[in-house]
Parts: sequence; structure tokens; C-alpha cells
Amino acid sequence: MQIYKVGGAVRDRLLGKPVTDIDWVVVGATTEEMLAKGFRPVGADFPVFLHPKTGEEYALARTERKSGRGYGGFTFHASPEVTLEEDLIRRDLTINAMAEDDQQNLTDPYHGQRDLEARLLRHVSPAFAEDPLRVLRVARFAARYAGLGFSVAAETLELMRQLSDSGELEALTAERSWKEISRALMEDQPQVFIEVLRACDALKVLMPEVDALFGVPQPEAHHPEIDTGVHTLSVLEQSALHKQPLTVRWACLLHDLGKGLTPEADWPRHIAHEHTGLKLIKAVNERFKAPKDCQELALLVGQYHTHGHRALELKPSTLLELLQSFDVYRRPQRFEEFIAACEMDARGRKGLEQRTYPQADYLRGAANAARGVAVQPLLEKGFKGPELGEAIKLERLKALKAYKEQA
Ligand code: CTP
Repeated sequence: MQIYKVGGAVRDRLLGKPVTDIDWVVVGATTEEMLAKGFRPVGADFPVFLHPKTGEEYALARTERKSGRGYGGFTFHASPEVTLEEDLIRRDLTINAMAEDDQQNLTDPYHGQRDLEARLLRHVSPAFAEDPLRVLRVARFAARYAGLGFSVAAETLELMRQLSDSGELEALTAERSWKEISRALMEDQPQVFIEVLRACDALKVLMPEVDALFGVPQPEAHHPEIDTGVHTLSVLEQSALHKQPLTVRWACLLHDLGKGLTPEADWPRHIAHEHTGLKLIKAVNERFKAPKDCQELALLVGQYHTHGHRALELKPSTLLELLQSFDVYRRPQRFEEFIAACEMDARGRKGLEQRTYPQADYLRGAANAARGVAVQPLLEKGFKGPELGEAIKLERLKALKAYKEQA
């Protein structure tokens, strides 16, 4: 049997990037031979094994054919006769379809190295279309390597468009899609992920609520970029520049969905978009089964981001409601993430990227003032149950009034 390193490990070594995961392909072996060498079988789908010592994945060389819709509809053929070239041709991108032996001799039948140099994400063969998830993968790689100057080859974008138009994307499971989306949002240029999905018409299938923001104007005084879609991309870009966590990036992407619902006659104003957007945010959250912390923050940021921007003008009672909604007493981190998302929203505007955001410290100070109210003296005064709750609220309100006066 011959063993080769394949996929991302070869690509990233050639790019001079750190290699974390190594995938191997085994040519000329049977399952029985692998088991006899102590490899442990994994996965019901394909003949893939874990190395007895390193735990790395070793897959028997295989060919694949699609036999129906979705990911379940696959037949594969693995046998000692399947060649390395046959295994590589079923892969997604030429830069992912190179193999290397233990002497670092490269097997590159589909010109991955040439495309690495040309900075092109290009599909290997029409077999690309057999897994619609690859539309999201290519967009994710574009987000990751945009900084190196990579873009999607025109013919690959066209194939992605055909896949988007065919209805195949709808067969993807929430879990597989979310894995790609969440990884893409954590890349250096997550806005490129959305741009590529939009360029191949996948965005209107996957997230029509985000797609609908393009072409919707906002008042130029606050939004020199005017277009709500462009603004959303900038907010996402800021969230990556500021190394925000996934929760914040997800909230940034979804914060303005309500603006897509504003009747044209009301443009460029978007009265109450914070409320109209909530059902859309909920729908996107649920479509991809986003983790609970992402779902929660996206809804809270959607509902309260304007409060964040107007923090310094808010009445103490409104400020208190905001702090109560976030449960800042038990969930301080979540409130920090809200503040971060608001700041990204403020900076994700043309020409305003470097602005300061005094609201952030003001909101932190308000949260600290409210948290500073001690419960013990109220208990000692004999307050219990709902009255105690009311008494605490009143004290917090007093604390916020004092805070506002001295700020
Ligand atoms: N692959 C593919 N189509 C998919 C998934 C994977 O063709 N839908 C192939 C590609 O050759 C890829 C390899 O399997 O390089 C390994 O896949 P994976 O580990 O998911 O990706 P990597 O390329 O290693 O990239 P990453 O750095 O994102 O892990």
C-alpha cells in the first residue's frame, strides 16, 4: 500500500501556513489490511480509519457517485484498484486535490500548485456539484484566503450559481451548514463569505433575510455608505478586525434584518426595525440551529442596538430596563458582547471606522452602578418576595439617576 498526505495539509504547507490537521489517503489497500495493521475504523459512511498511535485520519482511496438528493444520496467505491488520481478528481478544489508522499514528492494532476500561485479557487471537475455543501466551503476558503489575494474562478462561481439555482442547497442539513457558516464567520474576512454567497445566488437561498438588505437605503447622515447590505458587510468586517467571538459576529450579521421589511415608501427611514427584525432573526437562528448563546445575543442585539447607540441620552428608567433585559447581574459577559456588537455597528460605516464609542464605557459604568446596589440592607428592612424585587429595582433606579448626573 502507498500512503499520501492530502488536502488541507498539503495546501497549507505550500502556502507557508501552519498545518493543524493531517488527512491521509491510502492507495492499494483493503479494509482487512488496515484492520490487521491496527487501524481503527470510524464513520459509517466511508472506509476511514484512525491511526493506532497518532489518531490521524486515513481514508482508503475511493471514487464517489451521487445517487440522490442531499448528502445521504452517495454511493462510493473503495478498492485497492482505485488510483490516487481517481481519488483526487472527486475533491472540491484544485488546491485541495494535491497529494504528497513521505519524501514530499507532490502529485498534482489537476494543477493545484498553478492555482495556488494564481490565487484562484477553482473546482477540480464537474464532480464538484455532487456535494452542494461545497458552495459554502468555497465561500469559506475565499473568506480565509482573501488576505492572500485569492478569489473564486469565474467558471467555479458559475457552477456554484447553477447549484444554488437547482434547489440542491435546500437539501443541506442545518448541522452541516452551521459548521461552515460558523467557521467562515471566524475567518479573517468573514464579509467575503457573504459576498461570495451573494455573487453565486446562494445567499438568497440560505439567508434571504440578509440578501434582502442589499439595495435598501439608510439615511446618509448616519450611514454614509447608504446601502444596508454594504453596512452589514462592514459591521462583519469590523467584528473580525476587532477579533470578536462568534456570538458577536453572528449578532453583527443579523442585527439589521428588520430594515429589509421597511416599505419602500418609508425609505430611507426604518422606524421600529429593531422590533420587526426579531421574527426574521429567530427564523435564521432556527434554520441553522445556531447554538443558544449565538441565538440569544443576535435577538438581544437586534432588539436593543439603537438603545446602545443612544445610551447617553437614555432616561434612567430606560437604562434600567435595558440592564434588566440583559440580566447584567448574572450575565456580565453577555452584556459585554452586546456592547461590542453595538460598537462594531457604529464603526461599520463608511469613513467612520476609527470613530470612538463613548457609549461603551458609559454602559459599563451604568451596569456597575446597578450591580452596586446591595440587597442585604433591604432584607434587613424586612422586604421579601415580590416587594423585595420592587425595592431592589427602586434602589437600582436611584443608583442610575445618580450615575447619570455625575457622568
Ligand atoms: N473535501 C471535498 N469536499 C468536501 C469536503 C472535503 O472535496 N465537501 C476534500 C478536500 O480535498 C479537502 C479534504 O477533503 O481538502 C479534507 O477536508 P477538510 O478536512 O474538511 O478540509 P481541509 O481542506 O483540510 O480544510 P480546513 O483547513 O478547513 O480543515
